[in-house]
Amino acid sequence: MSPDATLQLIRKTKSLTPKPFAVNLFTHDIPVYTDEELEPMRQLILAIAAKRGYPLNAADLANFTLYNHLDQIDILVEEKIEIVSFTFGCLDSNSIQKLKQNGCILIGTATCVDEALYLQQQGIDMISVQGIEAGGHRGSFIKDRQLPQIGLFSLLPQIKNKVDVPCIAAGGINSASGIKAAFDLGADGVQVGTAFIGTRESMAITAYKNKLSEARDTDTVLTRAFSGRWARGMQNEMMLEIEQAGIPIPPYPLQNSLTAMLRKWAQERNDHEYTSLWAGQSAGPSVGLSSGDVFSQLVQAYETLFK
Ligand SMILES: Cc1cc2nc3c(=O)[nH]c(=O)nc-3n(C[C@H](O)[C@H](O)[C@H](O)COP(=O)(O)O)c2cc1C
Repeated sequence: MSPDATLQLIRKTKSLTPKPFAVNLFTHDIPVYTDEELEPMRQLILAIAAKRGYPLNAADLANFTLYNHLDQIDILVEEKIEIVSFTFGCLDSNSIQKLKQNGCILIGTATCVDEALYLQQQGIDMISVQGIEAGGHRGSFIKDRQLPQIGLFSLLPQIKNKVDVPCIAAGGINSASGIKAAFDLGADGVQVGTAFIGTRESMAITAYKNKLSEARDTDTVLTRAFSGRWARGMQNEMMLEIEQAGIPIPPYPLQNSLTAMLRKWAQERNDHEYTSLWAGQSAGPSVGLSSGDVFSQLVQAYETLFK
């Protein structure tokens, strides 16, 4: 998001609730790249769009403005945001200092023990422990190794053994027994994403919500096709066409920018084949429910079963 869009969203949220809320940042680097390096993927996206009937121009896929968390920190400080969560990396020490001086609670994302240790060393207050089951992007950020692919049941106790800060379990939690299991493994809280995609307040297109309500355990995969970062979602034509083209996929956020217009066009047409369908391994029917209903059903079921 541009800093201005961030500010507008914060102001709008404040107008809707007097309660504290978290702002979530993507703490990635901006990669250095040449236009020539992007050209093969640009041509592929143009070809895919044309085949689907979308008259995209090459000029639409050039000259992106790329932002990262460094563009947003001063706004969060000025707006006195009380909780900042982040993923794809760790905040730099200057930003950590500025936010902490403002009394802000910081929540980082870890997908392996070393990432959790790093976040703790940097003074981060809480850690979202993201298992491989999780929908959406992997928060992984240690560069000199393969993508961590550890299930939450293995990852959570290993991280709890090594860090002292509170840990929030994320990945595949979509039931009262899942919440109980996370707490039994040492979680101090749980984070639930996929269960809310089908809800009335969710901005996901109807076709995506419907696909998700029918999703089976095997339907999600990890892909870099849409954004250049590994993320879990339901397989569709756009994912397969990009992966099977044999062209190197540019890193995040370049690939994200290259695919953005095609995804937006598909969303406007309720076309689930040409947009990302992020989802975790525990999908379930939530279409038509309010997010409040999903939340209170999980809490009530947990309390009825286990308290
Ligand atoms: C559609 C979708 C969008 C997401 N967007 C973000 C995001 O912007 N920032 C973030 O930190 N995590 C994001 N996540 C990941 C969640 O924070 C969390 O790790 C994940 O949803 C937990 O697994 P679950 O989806 O199986 O419940 C997203 C997840 C989904 C499914």
